[in-house]
Amino acid sequence: MRVLVFGLLIALLAVGGVTANDSAAGAAGIGDDYFPLLGNGGYDALHYTLVLEWDEDTNTLSGTVMMDATATQDLSTFNLDFLGFDISDLTVNGEPAAFERDGRELTIAPANLLAAGTDFTTAVTYSGVPGEGVPNYYDVFARGWTRYDGGVYVASEPNGSAYWYPVNDHPLDKATYTFEITVPQPYRVAANGLLTDTRETDETTTYIWETAHPVASYLVTVNVGDFMVEQNTTASGVPIRNYFPVDIFQQSVLTFSPTPKMIEFFSDTFGPYPFEAYGVVVADRNLGFALETQTLSLFGRNAALGGRSSEEVIAHELAHQWFGNSVSPAEWKDIWLNEGFATYAAALWFEHTSGAKSLDNYMRGIYLALSNPLSAWRFVAPGSPPKDDLFNYGVYVRGAWVLHALRLRVGDEAFFDILRAYYDRFQYGNAATPDFIAVAEEISGEELDTFFDGWLYAKIVPDVPELGLSATLPTPSGG
Ligand code: TRP
Ligand code: ZN
Repeated sequence: MRVLVFGLLIALLAVGGVTANDSAAGAAGIGDDYFPLLGNGGYDALHYTLVLEWDEDTNTLSGTVMMDATATQDLSTFNLDFLGFDISDLTVNGEPAAFERDGRELTIAPANLLAAGTDFTTAVTYSGVPGEGVPNYYDVFARGWTRYDGGVYVASEPNGSAYWYPVNDHPLDKATYTFEITVPQPYRVAANGLLTDTRETDETTTYIWETAHPVASYLVTVNVGDFMVEQNTTASGVPIRNYFPVDIFQQSVLTFSPTPKMIEFFSDTFGPYPFEAYGVVVADRNLGFALETQTLSLFGRNAALGGRSSEEVIAHELAHQWFGNSVSPAEWKDIWLNEGFATYAAALWFEHTSGAKSLDNYMRGIYLALSNPLSAWRFVAPGSPPKDDLFNYGVYVRGAWVLHALRLRVGDEAFFDILRAYYDRFQYGNAATPDFIAVAEEISGEELDTFFDGWLYAKIVPDVPELGLSATLPTPSGG
């Protein structure tokens, strides 16, 4: 019966069209300059409930994803971002709703108009293999749900969430999450937030995870694997749960052991740790990246080996919990507010543990690379990275230099006051580049437009008179 009714609706829509050209249609994008189709307009997502079952042999995901939201305008139609899968059922407030799909846009026409200010719930029931039938899926860097030999990891920055669940896929619309993920035994599931319950059948276990705080969609993660869990608590009481591959458990415990001290250090430096817990998940596979997935950063096996580079990336992903996850970018072009801050935070950790000389060497080393014509071309100016190269290394290292140069210019006291005020003001929300500049000017009492223009946008890296560094004057060695 439902199938029939549904078919009828689709037939009607084929004539009328879901994307009716009326003023009550929610926008297909949230307004990001770089990515006009990311996110959607007309509603505010509050909570997602992901009830999904994973089939190990085929990597098929199937189940229902619900979104509780508030309409911010009258809605005759609204969009979610979603790619691939077969949708077998779609309801709004429990009533079947018509829908159309076009690339990343899933356009939904609820049976009744949703009036501005009302809450509604959408439930999408679907099944399929992530990425199957999606054009250019293998060109995509962050694919969301990713199968590997030992299980699954999810990495989605900036726009991979739509490859595995229907979502308002932009950091401007954060929401809380409940995950109910069913996997075959003996796999375990590690996701954002806290594990609140498990349910077993003869062959499967369902893991229920809940987040206490809203999460940007690119920071959502679900990991399936044969993990061993380490539990711990920081001095100030932040619970830590780490998910490690069984065969490198001891080594991983050792490599990640500075984490509680890092949490204390960053809490003292930036403000209190923002979330209900922290920890990491190490996928049983080497990865060329790590990702700051909220409350549970994701690493590959290679990061568990130890040494300075492991320590740096461990500090970097942790620092993102403050800068990136609690204070999230308002638009993707503001990504230096994530990467420059996390890179500088890791340098601050080494300053803390190894002394001022260590920071000075690190920053001078970066400056050389940024100013030497043989290497400078590799690094974009951090304030306006190309759309297709958002995570260019210049966003990281010159982004870190923006902060170091600011510190040299306004002095340590004003600088750390600026960081704390910025974090305090924008925590659990979003910030854009002008927001940070405004805080810096307010706290320092200085006019900093020229300073930030040079560091964020100029092709050639500015001089640093405080350290005698210059990219435009010949160096004494005549280089
Ligand atoms: N934000 C990550 C970091 O800490 C880098 C990153 C960007 C990433 N996009 C990604 C990692 C996609 C994994 C997948 O620097
Ligand atoms: Zn980063």
